[in-house]
Amino acid sequence: MIYLDNSATTKPDPSVLKSFDQVSSNFFANPSSIHQFGGETEQLLVRTRKQVAEILKVDKDEVVFTSGGTEGNNTAIKGIALEHQNRGKHIITSEIEHPSVLEACHGLEMLGFNITYLPVNQDGIISLQDLEHAIREDTILISIMHVNNEIGSIQPIKEVGNIAKQHPKLFLHVDDVQGLGKVPLTLRDSGIDLCSFSGHKINGLKGTGILYVNKHTKLFPLLHGGGQEQSLRSGTENIAGAVAMARALRLMKEREVQGIKKLYDLQKNLRNALLKITGVKMNTPETAAPHIVNFSMPGVKPEVIIHMLGEREIFISTKSACSSKQKDESMVLAACGFNGKRSASGFRVSMSYDTTAEEISHFIEALKKAIQQFKEVME
Ligand SMILES: Cc1ncc(COP(=O)(O)O)c(C=O)c1O
Repeated sequence: MIYLDNSATTKPDPSVLKSFDQVSSNFFANPSSIHQFGGETEQLLVRTRKQVAEILKVDKDEVVFTSGGTEGNNTAIKGIALEHQNRGKHIITSEIEHPSVLEACHGLEMLGFNITYLPVNQDGIISLQDLEHAIREDTILISIMHVNNEIGSIQPIKEVGNIAKQHPKLFLHVDDVQGLGKVPLTLRDSGIDLCSFSGHKINGLKGTGILYVNKHTKLFPLLHGGGQEQSLRSGTENIAGAVAMARALRLMKEREVQGIKKLYDLQKNLRNALLKITGVKMNTPETAAPHIVNFSMPGVKPEVIIHMLGEREIFISTKSACSSKQKDESMVLAACGFNGKRSASGFRVSMSYDTTAEEISHFIEALKKAIQQFKEVME
């Protein structure tokens, strides 16, 4: 199998699975229980939170364990909106956010909030000038993703943070689900108040994640109950999940420097090989994150090619359908200004630290064959 759909999810690392298994079996007590076993489990959670805080270079009280990116994004956006609505009801985001941000914003619109969706240029990047112009007296939140999940474009988060710092009354949330381990991001003193991460994108487990909540940031919790996770997420803690998340994060950190360098090399070769294929249009900008390559082949049906590749056990993806004007058009590609044909024929190849040069060349050969086959059928 050649798995090139790592932006959708990654294969769990065996040591992550082992940690989850061991903690589930050996530390199953409820950390809120006052007996010794509960206390031991609570201590494990405290240690795990401290480890994560050290890796992210934040305070341990700023780490909230979540079920993943969707929960982190919803908790941050709705939490700020509900807590600070008396000060204002205006939120700024971009047109190319993940649905867990866009749909949270649409939901808030139904509750009377006003959302500005910043456009992007052809490289999938917002304009800082547009952002500055969009800030109003009643703006309470800016929510901008770090790395786009379809094309890999990187937003200028450092500069966005500097703008946010000039407006101390508003909060800045960053969706770093795709950036983690691929494009380093500093949290401390960056102007970022909230940042979402997901375990299953970094060889961790589904249902695990982290929301960084700066200690000066007050949120209205989505889940009320026993007051776990600094009262931001009540419910008996998933300690095995938290330990698995910490393990995945540590493994990622150990491999990050070499891993990123390798990904850039693979990405360069992949881009060059794709551009040699007649009809291929590159959608991923040169300045993008190293793990994603998105390209279009106008006139070719992505589902058919993906099916043909799948028969050879090569797995890539297409991002289309959801919430676009045209059913099969990618909303992100359309937002970049690409025409309907190009936006409807997007392919996404996404790599991990484990992807090899051989896998990439096998994929290219198989893709060429699939295109040939497609053309023969269409003639
Ligand atoms: C940019 C981005 N944000 C959020 C999410 C949602 O993360 P999760 O699947 O952990 O809920 C994803 C997942 O694809 C993503 O790519």
